[in-house]
Amino acid sequence: MKNSIEYLKSFYRTPVTPESFFLSLEGIEGSGKSTQIKHLEKILTDKGYRVLTLREPGGTEFGEKLREAILKSSTPLHPLAECHLFLASRAQLLEEKILPFLLVPKSVVILDRYIDSTMAYQGKARHLGLETVLELHRHDPLNLLPHRTYFLDITLETSLDRQAKRGQEKDYFESEKTEFYANLIDGYKEMARIFPERILTIDASKTPEEVSQVMALDLEKILA
Ligand SMILES: Nc1ncnc2c1ncn2[C@@H]1O[C@H](COP(=O)(O)OP(=O)(O)OP(=O)(O)O)[C@@H](O)[C@H]1O
Ligand SMILES: [Mg+2]
Repeated sequence: MKNSIEYLKSFYRTPVTPESFFLSLEGIEGSGKSTQIKHLEKILTDKGYRVLTLREPGGTEFGEKLREAILKSSTPLHPLAECHLFLASRAQLLEEKILPFLLVPKSVVILDRYIDSTMAYQGKARHLGLETVLELHRHDPLNLLPHRTYFLDITLETSLDRQAKRGQEKDYFESEKTEFYANLIDGYKEMARIFPERILTIDASKTPEEVSQVMALDLEKILA
């Protein structure tokens, strides 16, 4: 298992984009991704970077249609069908938006969810297996990894608590059972172990200010 993950990792790379960076935020619902992205955008804009924030699935005209197809699906999708829809959206997003934007120096693309969510949701929680999902991503351009990923780590209890306070209707994934969420959290943690040089795990049960301070300090190092 370990060897084959190591083998699959060898197909992955970060884009070569002088002075430009590709970042992603990961974590379960309510972990604070949207909240923290606003802070990140401000920090980076103040430093003179062009910032493009995108969400997955979606971010292109075609991708937004797929987002609807997945999140509004009235029937459960086969995990492979689900996975391929996410990958189709992602390949288009890389081609149309991410890669062209990064070609201009001093640009930052921030992704609200990326490959680690697919690994956690479809790989772990939907039981396709991390290796299968890594295998599906190994061709260009899906094999491009962010320079840095912030994994906002919270417990299921904290997630449910924040979702209840936010009070929105539950979508396709939010209606899943506790076991699904336990696997999801495990999936993110496993990814953090597989890609320790890329993924920074942050205790996101802390206050928004504390979380953004950890990210700001880390960003200083990355941008330097
Ligand atoms: N560190 C924090 N402490 C307490 N509450 C927080 C914290 N971060 C975010 N929140 C609150 O929790 C809720 C969810 O946060 P947010 O929308 O940023 O999460 P998210 O990760 O983007 O969720 P989703 O995956 O559903 O989009 C919001 O009401 C937000 O104000
Ligand atoms: Mg959000």
